[in-house]
Amino acid sequence: MSQSKQYLPSAEWSANAHVKGMDGYRALVAEAEADYEGFWASRARELISWQTPFTKVLNDSEAPFFKWFEDGRLNVSYNCLDRNVERGLGDKTALIFEADNGDVTRVSYSELLAKVSRLANALKARGVKKGDRVVIYMPMSVEGVAAMQACARIGATHSVVFGGFSAQSLRDRVQDAGAVMVITADEQLRGGKQLPLKSIVDEALADNSCPTLKDVIVYQRTGGSIAWVAGRDLWLHELLEGQSSDCAPEWVESEHPLFLLYTSGSTGKPKGVQHSTGGYLLHAALTTKWTFDLKPDDVFWCTADIGWVTGHTYITYGPLALGGTEIVFEGVPTYPDAGRFWQMIAKHKVTIFYTAPTAIRSLIKAAETNEAVHPKNYDLSSLRLLGSVGEPINPAAWEWYHQHVGGGRCPIVDTFWQTETGGHMITPLPGATPLVPGSCTLPFPGITTAIVDELGNDVPNGQGGILVVKKPWPSMIRTIWGDPERFKKSYYPSELKGYYLAGDGAIRDAETGYFTITGRIDDVLNVSGHRMGTMEIESALVSCTELVAEAAVVGRPDDTTGEAICAFVVLKRPRPSGDEAKAIAKQLRDHVAKEIGPIAKPKDIRFGDNLPKTRSGKIMRRLLRAVAKGEAVTQDTSTLENPAILDQLGQAY
Ligand code: WT7
Repeated sequence: MSQSKQYLPSAEWSANAHVKGMDGYRALVAEAEADYEGFWASRARELISWQTPFTKVLNDSEAPFFKWFEDGRLNVSYNCLDRNVERGLGDKTALIFEADNGDVTRVSYSELLAKVSRLANALKARGVKKGDRVVIYMPMSVEGVAAMQACARIGATHSVVFGGFSAQSLRDRVQDAGAVMVITADEQLRGGKQLPLKSIVDEALADNSCPTLKDVIVYQRTGGSIAWVAGRDLWLHELLEGQSSDCAPEWVESEHPLFLLYTSGSTGKPKGVQHSTGGYLLHAALTTKWTFDLKPDDVFWCTADIGWVTGHTYITYGPLALGGTEIVFEGVPTYPDAGRFWQMIAKHKVTIFYTAPTAIRSLIKAAETNEAVHPKNYDLSSLRLLGSVGEPINPAAWEWYHQHVGGGRCPIVDTFWQTETGGHMITPLPGATPLVPGSCTLPFPGITTAIVDELGNDVPNGQGGILVVKKPWPSMIRTIWGDPERFKKSYYPSELKGYYLAGDGAIRDAETGYFTITGRIDDVLNVSGHRMGTMEIESALVSCTELVAEAAVVGRPDDTTGEAICAFVVLKRPRPSGDEAKAIAKQLRDHVAKEIGPIAKPKDIRFGDNLPKTRSGKIMRRLLRAVAKGEAVTQDTSTLENPAILDQLGQAY
């Protein structure tokens, strides 16, 4: 790997940034090394208002169940809203909401505080209390952000479910979380289309499948017709009538679970990643400050959905904790055309833009086929910083983003992190770190990422290995909801010396020590920055019992989506070909969409009379990965039970 081409921050950038130059970065790293707890404690005092100040910083007596700031009490919604109003930011715009059709609504800090407080009072009126779980299944909206903040205000633990997940996925999450309430909308609007939400909730909750659930609160977004379950369903606007816009925040312990967020692992059902209050808020605020260099006049835009962790940390919490102004976008990057992002950056004078490599790659393609949507046609001069998240960004996409979106003057922060880490782990700091396209560069100050072998021993730079985090950090996952054993097994395997196992492989450059993520080392795929377990998709396929006898799923590289899902399927009927195979493949994709959601649809489906197995009956996944990539199979197939099927699997539908 050559890392000769480096992009240095301009002198102006370094002089004005929160973290100034590599000296500034190194000083912070040294400070954390010299006094780890003191480093975090001083930032926790500086960035957070505590109702009861903490006296203890880290409690590791029950490792790996770490506690941070455990005797402190605080409220996240107070920190994001009231505190900013008290600081004189009441009239400052907190949210700029742009609807799918381009309509814009601005919400100031005092308006957002009033909105959140009324909603919080309404939730209380319905009996929601501290510690109750509330599932939020909402479109991108002011109401979605407000619902999360309202839960935080009363100490309820929210669990946001992405609006693209199916009824079955939603049901699994409501059940696992034991939620008392679902907050949803009648429909969502994306790309000019009305898409259902409430009817999916109805299906998820049918047959009294979720006994803990009492209320379904419905935000009227489109006015589309929906079914109504009397005694269970309530309109949000009716519920808000007469509610006071004053709601005293519920002060909670620092370790109180702020939210659960379900994500895929290598085995079994998605796991409910549990995050804390104090430690999580600290890292959300600190990374927004140092990685995004957020300043009072910035207009920040994170294009993620609130259904993913990126939307939690860098829409609902981080920017608001710092009193920032941010965009909340309902629509999609390709509607009304693929210039939407650039048009919105120009319209709102966005200064910091944070998106995913998949979006960039698809917009590059769009600009190549349609000149009119090339970023050069838009005034993007307001931008000063760009960010990337969710998957590795290939150097070509990085260069295009840098040149055509950032005008060659904006640093790009390639931020590596995970649902479990709560915030950035490895990332450049824009006024400090020389950038190398394709590398997420160096650990965030205070974060102790390293590369080790299977036994937890450090490997030298230039040699790949397993990415770990050596010390606990404030915003780390606390447990898997309801399954502490799975938490320990997944993230703290005994052979790794007590290090946190990220699940990714990585390599550090021999000269610079820069990290490059080489991809997951478990059976987790990353499709368009969305995480999916191969086993989940396999279970979804075999649950189509009338058709499927057996299925194996692997990933293969894809130019746009990073990885693509490739399914190998054995049917209960003779292997199909031609149009019939196409029709069955469509049926299977629809089935997976119904079981998990459209994002889990396999791109390629290959049919075989059986799957390549060793004589002992193990599916040869390495071989399937080669077939999925279209590579010639060079591997020894002599142990294969039925070598003839390799020909059959060559055809993808
Ligand atoms: C996985 C986590 C981080 C929030 C969105 C995804 C991959 C994430 C990068 C990056 C290379 C990345 C990793 C990680 N990933 N960011 N900058 N470079 N890979 O969160 O759904 O929990 O997925 O996304 O494989 O483990 P997530």
